Amino acid sequence: MSRLQHFGWFLARGFGPQGWGHPFLDWNWRWTEPALYQQSVRELEQAGIELLIIEDAPSLGSPATIDLRVRQAFGGPKHDPLLLAPYLFAATTNLGVAPTVNPAAFLPYTAARQFATLQHLSGHRLGLNVVTDTGSARHFGAAPPLGHDAAYDRAEEWLGALRALWRSWPDDALIADPAHGRYADGTRLEAVQHRGEYFSFDGPLNAIPFTDGEPAIVSPGGSGRGLAFAGANSEVQLALAPLDPESIRAYRARIHEAAVARGRRPGDVKVLFAIQPVLVGSAEEADRLVSASANPDDRALRTIAEKQSSDLETDLTALELDAPIPAGYFGDHVSHGSIARLIGGRDAATTPLREHLAALARLGRLSDGSGFVGTAGELADLIERLGDEADNDGVLFWGDLHPVTVHRMLDELAPILRRRGILRTEFAPGGLRANLQAF
Ligand SMILES: Cc1cc2nc3c(=O)[nH]c(=O)nc-3n(C[C@H](O)[C@H](O)[C@H](O)COP(=O)(O)O)c2cc1C
Repeated sequence: MSRLQHFGWFLARGFGPQGWGHPFLDWNWRWTEPALYQQSVRELEQAGIELLIIEDAPSLGSPATIDLRVRQAFGGPKHDPLLLAPYLFAATTNLGVAPTVNPAAFLPYTAARQFATLQHLSGHRLGLNVVTDTGSARHFGAAPPLGHDAAYDRAEEWLGALRALWRSWPDDALIADPAHGRYADGTRLEAVQHRGEYFSFDGPLNAIPFTDGEPAIVSPGGSGRGLAFAGANSEVQLALAPLDPESIRAYRARIHEAAVARGRRPGDVKVLFAIQPVLVGSAEEADRLVSASANPDDRALRTIAEKQSSDLETDLTALELDAPIPAGYFGDHVSHGSIARLIGGRDAATTPLREHLAALARLGRLSDGSGFVGTAGELADLIERLGDEADNDGVLFWGDLHPVTVHRMLDELAPILRRRGILRTEFAPGGLRANLQAF
């Protein structure tokens, strides 16, 4: 038997028309209404998944590139996942739900109170995916966007402020005992006078203390500053790395070091690696899919160009497929990491766009480590190996959230993982934190 691991799902295109253009959405689902997500989360929970993280961006992005983001609905529109969360909690009893929140968008007092309310409403199953993207700064005031590290500094101050407010009610301040004739002792509350670099306000919070801990913090940033933030603050790190034991060990060591530097234990942060497998019924089918992807046609390349145009906020669909991307085509607003992922190791000055897009279209096999197409058994082998050889905490399935996508991923996989002792068969009482700390 292998060790138990933690499993989550990352709804990577947020609460929007995710999956738009796929025929399965024509099944009379409406992405704006809760039923689609409620049915999906019931099935995630049934399978033993303990956490759903919902991506978000409050903004449609830079005014010049909005059309690129909404054309195929890759980057918007998006509704607020915080307001979807109560519907998901109502449909489940154990699943943790972590909407994405950006400290730029919420004053600490409002955030602390809203999140406290959701933590109580959900039976202590709230998580918060705290992000530091600054692309939406213009919607929240006239100040210019913060730099990369300053956005993390603000996020740390914000979280510290939320925690001070949540702790402004010591446990014994709440009496709620009719025999005493007294609900609470207001003299015991902490005043909380926060005067920081980014926020200034007074407490205490108008919400009662938690019985099973504060909302669990999730973080996705992968820079040195991002990992330090995770070590200091997070219960879950949404990790991106090549899925081999060596890379996973190295990534985990960095997070653990950061946790210990801030007085926490390594096991306080569960590092869950994002994975986007394509599961098929047989090894032969997987081989067929991989060889068919070797020479993508123009239509397939165009779809990739549309998605890349949204992610890179740069119109690749306007370019000639058989010519190199013109020098200086990417503006300063585009992340260097994202450009590097598109270009790979090829020479940008001479390689036609077609080759960059084709490289993204090409699939590889789970069985030989060249990619993520394979059978449920092959994926279970990989997950098991990462647990055994790299002490991995678990994985996050990355994709749209729809009953079809949930079933495609988990119908065969969940029973195999269960039989091998890798996937939980029951949830711990006490909410999301308790389940994350159960092993
Ligand atoms: C896997 C992953 C998921 C992210 N999800 C979001 C998101 O949902 N919304 C958002 O505004 N930013 C998101 N971000 C951006 C991060 O919060 C952060 O601002 C960015 O990654 C830069 O920090 P870094 O250099 O530490 O990675 C995500 C980043 C990563 C790597």
